[in-house]
Amino acid sequence: MNLSPATETTTSTSPTPRLSPGAETGAGPVIRTQDLWRIYQMGSEQVAALRGVSLNIQHNEYVAIMGPSGSGKSTLMNLIGCLDTPTRGEYWLNGQLVSALNDDQLAHIRNKEIGFVFQTFNLLARATALHNVELPLVYAGVPPAERAERALQALRSVDLESRKHHKPNELSGGQRQRVAIARALVNRPSIILADEPTGNLDSVTSAEIMGLLERLWEQGQTIVLVTHESDIAEHAHRAIFIRDGQIARDEITTRGRERRAKAGE
Ligand SMILES: Nc1ncnc2c1ncn2[C@@H]1O[C@H](COP(=O)(O)OP(=O)(O)OP(=O)(O)O)[C@@H](O)[C@H]1O
Ligand SMILES: [Mg+2]
Repeated sequence: MNLSPATETTTSTSPTPRLSPGAETGAGPVIRTQDLWRIYQMGSEQVAALRGVSLNIQHNEYVAIMGPSGSGKSTLMNLIGCLDTPTRGEYWLNGQLVSALNDDQLAHIRNKEIGFVFQTFNLLARATALHNVELPLVYAGVPPAERAERALQALRSVDLESRKHHKPNELSGGQRQRVAIARALVNRPSIILADEPTGNLDSVTSAEIMGLLERLWEQGQTIVLVTHESDIAEHAHRAIFIRDGQIARDEITTRGRERRAKAGE
């Protein structure tokens, strides 16, 4: 059974721009999902991992996604990150309807719009920090000189220029995650998606990584973070709780209220 929604017939692999209202002016949300479903087919059985998720995330929001194991958090992140397509429903990323794109088109959008940070860092073991950060630019076809300059700049933004020739096993856990964050930033993505980014780090190093994400948010970055830990989620300004594939609660955190008060909203 083909679980992908019907795609438009197209002879080109370049994304077909279909814009949502407000997208032309940049006024719309960065992420907008409408009744998103993801049903996995397991032999003759179906597992409904997401059951009708509708949400909007605006530019420069800082959102934590929480929920019990198996509730659908990673499934939702995979859809938002264009790693997977929904069984039903619509997903607009930066005003563009991406739920109907094919795999090549999704890969293109993903590389351009999404910066991923994973619990296990996912760095290439044999490549230096600089080369790891450069990789998304290689895939994007950026010329070598510009690539090196932009990768260096990204490493500088996480205070790791002095470690540019180090390979992952020559870096601390926190430094590895900072390299991964530099790699996520190098394409100047619309959104950073972090799935348990502090899951493998001790509390001091976790605080350092959360401080870095905070700095990126202050610089205008939109951030969506999956976490099991409520003290990590408290760094975000909004917390969305998923239960059985649905949004159970969507609230402003204490930090979010403080920020609103400060901004006079
Ligand atoms: N590829 C797959 N095929 C079939 N079922 C899947 C697949 N991936 C996830 N599931 C099921 O979908 C549900 C949601 O899984 P998901 O990985 O999104 O949970 P999660 O909230 O990220 O959990 P955790 O906190 O443990 O990471 C689970 O019941 C899981 O067993
Ligand atoms: Mg998960």
